[in-house]
Amino acid sequence: MSQYWSSLLADLSPYVPGEQRVGGRVVKLNTNENPYPPSKRVMQAISDVDGTQLRRYPEPASKELRNALAQYHKLDATQVFVGNGSDEVLALAFMAFFINEQPLVFPALTYSFYPVYCKLYKIPYIELPMSDDFSIDWSGLPSKLGGIVFPNPNAPTGLACTIDGIEQLLGNNPSKIVLVDEAYIDFGAQSATSLVARYPNLLVTQTFSKGRSLAGMRIGAAFGHSDLIAGLDRVKNSFNSYPLDVVAEQAALASLEDEQYHREHVSKIIASRDWLTEQLEARDFKVLPSAANFVFAAPSHIGAKQLHEYLNKRDILVRYWDKPLLQDWLRISIGSPDELQLLINAIDQTQSSNKDGAR
Ligand SMILES: Cc1ncc(COP(=O)(O)O)c(C=O)c1O
Repeated sequence: MSQYWSSLLADLSPYVPGEQRVGGRVVKLNTNENPYPPSKRVMQAISDVDGTQLRRYPEPASKELRNALAQYHKLDATQVFVGNGSDEVLALAFMAFFINEQPLVFPALTYSFYPVYCKLYKIPYIELPMSDDFSIDWSGLPSKLGGIVFPNPNAPTGLACTIDGIEQLLGNNPSKIVLVDEAYIDFGAQSATSLVARYPNLLVTQTFSKGRSLAGMRIGAAFGHSDLIAGLDRVKNSFNSYPLDVVAEQAALASLEDEQYHREHVSKIIASRDWLTEQLEARDFKVLPSAANFVFAAPSHIGAKQLHEYLNKRDILVRYWDKPLLQDWLRISIGSPDELQLLINAIDQTQSSNKDGAR
């Protein structure tokens, strides 16, 4: 706290991302990154960028990428927005659509950036209670609300909502924006982009960080009615004219062109997720059925906090939150098969040390 801070700064509680430990050999299963590199075509596109392009500012609207994404999702380019990671797209969307007196609604267990944006923009919000099975209980939706936002699949549970459920929400709240955050959509849930043409109150965000191995490039997108996209552009152009750099745009274009690589690697991650779920269940963990590139799992032979600490000391990073609803659970990103085997070996060591009474 400094005397120079504004009152807004003093009131913020910034998002805390998972640890990015540098150096040494770390089994990094804490930030839902992709264990595989981007495709060779992406790497080629990056190295093909020449200095002349870098000397200049990027084309501010990233039209080439918007067109390619429109084609990919069978939408019009006026229904597509791009930004510097989906976090930035979400931040712009909150600013464009949710700053009003009525509360924004999101699930009690969800992406922890949503309440951070609400504090930043002074948006009132209501957290919807979760059902006992950790699904979102929409029956508690208040009659007066400023909008709805949730990830599908949800984070950190990994549970997916059905497309029928999303359509019902859109139909029941026609004057409110429903923002579906599809950061993990590649790994199993059905995308709501197919509903964009029919629901002018739908905004969908996606990212190249997870399924496309480009977290380091910061590429996000939004899909919605052209009026919503025009609203996002107004905010973007009042904030940063060039959110996507030249290299990132070329990488994104090449990634969209290499669909086979994308599908193959997503399938590998899904197979590893199934393997990890089986292994954990065989060791008496509770594991929620995940449609994402992570699993949400509760150990029974040791506390989640203790297991998190045990793994952390052995350079195996998983995510743990010491908070109500979350404190018995770990969120484990799907790493490579070798990394997951190291995780299971380490868990087995805690099981044998428990049997020896050395907990
Ligand atoms: C639910 C959810 N939405 C959005 C993001 C942001 O992704 P990015 O900014 O890398 O596109 C994340 C990242 O972990 C996430 O978990």
